[in-house]
Amino acid sequence: MADMGCSSGPNAFLLVSRIIDIIDEASRGINRQCPQFGVFLNDLPGNDFNGLFNQLSSFEKDLEEVEEVRQLVKAETSFAVDKLETFIIDWSVDSSQDLEIRAKFAAKSLRVVTEALLETTFTHEVMDDLFRLFEACIKERIAVKEGEYVNIVLSRIVTSKAGPIIEESARKVYNTLRPECLMMAKMGCSSGPNALQVVSRIIDVIEKASRSINCQCPQFGVFLNDLPGNDFNTMFNLLLNFYKDLQEAKGSSCGPCFVSGIPKSFYGRVFPDKFLHFVHSSYSVHWLSQVPRGLVSENGEALNKGNIYIAKTSPPKIHKAYYAQFKSDFTLFLRLRSREMVSGGGMVLIFLGSIHSDDPDLVYELFGSTLHDMVLEGLIEEEKLDNFNLPLYSPTVDEVRKLVEAEGSFAFNKLETITVDWGVDTSQSLDTQAEFVAKTVRAVIEPLLTIAFGHAVMDDLFLLFETRVKARMAEKRSEFVTIVVSLTKKE
Ligand SMILES: C[S@@+](CC[C@H](N)C(=O)[O-])C[C@H]1O[C@@H](n2cnc3c(N)ncnc32)[C@H](O)[C@@H]1O
Repeated sequence: MADMGCSSGPNAFLLVSRIIDIIDEASRGINRQCPQFGVFLNDLPGNDFNGLFNQLSSFEKDLEEVEEVRQLVKAETSFAVDKLETFIIDWSVDSSQDLEIRAKFAAKSLRVVTEALLETTFTHEVMDDLFRLFEACIKERIAVKEGEYVNIVLSRIVTSKAGPIIEESARKVYNTLRPECLMMAKMGCSSGPNALQVVSRIIDVIEKASRSINCQCPQFGVFLNDLPGNDFNTMFNLLLNFYKDLQEAKGSSCGPCFVSGIPKSFYGRVFPDKFLHFVHSSYSVHWLSQVPRGLVSENGEALNKGNIYIAKTSPPKIHKAYYAQFKSDFTLFLRLRSREMVSGGGMVLIFLGSIHSDDPDLVYELFGSTLHDMVLEGLIEEEKLDNFNLPLYSPTVDEVRKLVEAEGSFAFNKLETITVDWGVDTSQSLDTQAEFVAKTVRAVIEPLLTIAFGHAVMDDLFLLFETRVKARMAEKRSEFVTIVVSLTKKE
């Protein structure tokens, strides 16, 4: 079912729940299984989809917040509430603009409303400097939040090294299945431009493959999946250019192409049975569904003290607990996708890996020891560090091979590792590379760290981390290990 022009308020969800209720009742009335539901919330790309998707999980919380207003109005007694809603807008209002313009706009907007008040306490002379600094902070914050740094790293790896594997798999899917509409999903798409770049590349390969056999190019259904809290607004704002570029490059020889966002965890069902022809995910499936349970003893004592992931100083049971969680999550991911894919469909997964299972030697080990230094300096509470662990696992090629074989739904086309230097571009100075690594790690894990350790220590923490990264890079070569696995869904 589709809600065309759904806007961003709660009405769309209310209507959908009502329709599902009616159909559930109707199916029970005739003793039939209730159908699966595909719900498509459509609006223009500039609609606030973030606000909408956030309501999927935070609908009840939002209601509680507006409840305070409702209670106050009720207590005052002069008015009846006809409507009471919340909506969310990006700080810069138009997130399709470039970073400079957005930061300037947000800083100016705040200056207009606060300057007069601030001047009375801090004097007129400091206002220009204050708001210049504030604008720089906003810019940095938006850039870090939107993972601009991560995008650069990931795009280089995917484009240069894993790109040919994705293309080969997409070509194989088309030549085997020749669908009229090729359904593809990008799981864990994030909000940067990488997801649509990969999609363009896949469409290009398939258009060429269809032309080479004098066939009509298929239509494309593209499903961009991530957690409901992902910044889908930014992603959808890239769509206008994506459609325009596609039209310019291919004209009427290709498509049409229909792009949708799917806000849902990939550790649950995301698509109907036998729906997808091609699935791709980059740097997402190493994220676990939860922090492994076995990191705390039965009486609640933290077992991975002083670390935030498997480290050389972690007891062996820590590695076992992490692997057990990955085994369960990855197997579930394969099982769910195998239900959602047609036989002969292709899946290319790219994720963080390790060479040694119990000594992964990730950048996160160094990050854990930086946090430990902050504990020694009294800047972070020891107990908080002892109880914090990252919900990710970087498997070895052997572990991946065994788990795919054991799950049994997929045949291997390729299983490879790619290594890239931490600083990615080793022609840069060590300072630049260290800053780059620190910013990349910050973009990925800051939200988790802020919840555990508070916002106030973040700048100091990442500054210290940058110096530790620089020292480590000067001492020895440090590399990210990436695993690429290309699979075909069996009969
Ligand atoms: C490093 S980013 C991916 C980058 C992106 N694929 C690219 O190539 O630019 C990891 C993404 O995985 C998403 N993610 C993590 N766990 C997920 C889950 N269970 N379901 C869906 N998305 C998930 C995160 O929200 C995040 O956006």
